[in-house]
Amino acid sequence: MSALAGRTALVSGASRGIGLEVARALVADGMRVAMLARSSDELRARAADLGARALPYPCDVADPAAIAALAERLTDEFDGAPDVIVNNAGMFKLATVDTTDPRDFRAALDVNLVAPFLLVHAFLGAMRARRSGHIVMIGSIADRATFPENGAYAASKFGLRALHEVLRGELRGSGIRTTLVSPGPVDTALWDAVDPDMRPGFTPRVQMLSPAAVAAAVRYAVTQPADVNVDELRLSRA
Ligand SMILES: NC(=O)c1ccc[n+]([C@@H]2O[C@H](COP(=O)([O-])OP(=O)(O)OC[C@H]3O[C@@H](n4cnc5c(N)ncnc54)[C@H](OP(=O)(O)O)[C@@H]3O)[C@@H](O)[C@H]2O)c1
Repeated sequence: MSALAGRTALVSGASRGIGLEVARALVADGMRVAMLARSSDELRARAADLGARALPYPCDVADPAAIAALAERLTDEFDGAPDVIVNNAGMFKLATVDTTDPRDFRAALDVNLVAPFLLVHAFLGAMRARRSGHIVMIGSIADRATFPENGAYAASKFGLRALHEVLRGELRGSGIRTTLVSPGPVDTALWDAVDPDMRPGFTPRVQMLSPAAVAAAVRYAVTQPADVNVDELRLSRA
C-alpha cells in the first residue's frame, strides 16, 4: 500500500491539464484530494470521474476571501491542514511588455504567485504545529529562462521560484518539505489560444510533455522518505 494512503491533499487548478493528472495520481495512491478550480460544473464532473476520494471545491484562487473561506472549510473537513498542497493553478498569456494589458499583468501575478503564497500562508501554521506537510509549486521553464512576450508569466514564475527557495530555507528541519516542479512545454488547453503549431519557434504540441509526466514527477517528490527533500525537478522532453 502507498505511504500516501489515507492522507489528504489540495490541488489547485485540478479541473483539467496538469492539475487533473496530479489529482488522479494522488487519488490512485489512496489520498483524499481537494480539487480546486473556478468552473464548478467541469470540476464536479472531473472529480466524480475520479471517485469518492476526489472532492470538488469550486474556488477562484485569485480571490483572497475565497481562499480564506476555503481554508477554514478544508481545515474542518480534513481535520487539519492538508498533508500535501500542490500549487498548480496558473494563467498564461503572451504579449510584449508594451502591449500587455496591466490587468493581465496583475492577473498573472495574482493567480501564479499571490495565490500560492495565500494557500501556503493559510495552512503553514498548522503544518508547523504538526511538524509535517509537503508544499509543491508547479513552476515552469519560465521560472528561470526568459522569452519574448513572456513578461507577465516569467515575472510570476520567477517570483514563484523565489518563494519556493525562501520557504526551503525557512522550513529546513521543520518536518515540512517543499518541492518546485518546473516543466518545459506540456500539451494542455493552456496552449489553445496561442496555437503553437502555427507559430515558428514554438514547440509543436506533439513534441510537448504529457500532463501525466508532470504528475509522475509530483508523485515522485511526495513519496520519498520523510528525511528526503526533493528540492527541484526540471522536466523537458527527451
Ligand atoms: N502547459 C504548459 O506548457 C506548462 C508548462 C510549464 C508549467 N505549466 C504550469 O502548470 C500549471 C497548470 O497548467 P496547465 O497547462 O495544466 O493549464 P490548464 O490546462 O489551462 O489548466 C489550468 C487549471 O487552473 C485552473 N485555474 C486557472 N485560473 C484559476 C483561478 N483563478 N482559480 C482557480 N483555478 C484556476 C483552471 O480551471 P478554471 O479555468 O476552471 O478555473 C484549470 O483547472 C500552471 O501553473 C502552468 O503555469 C504549464
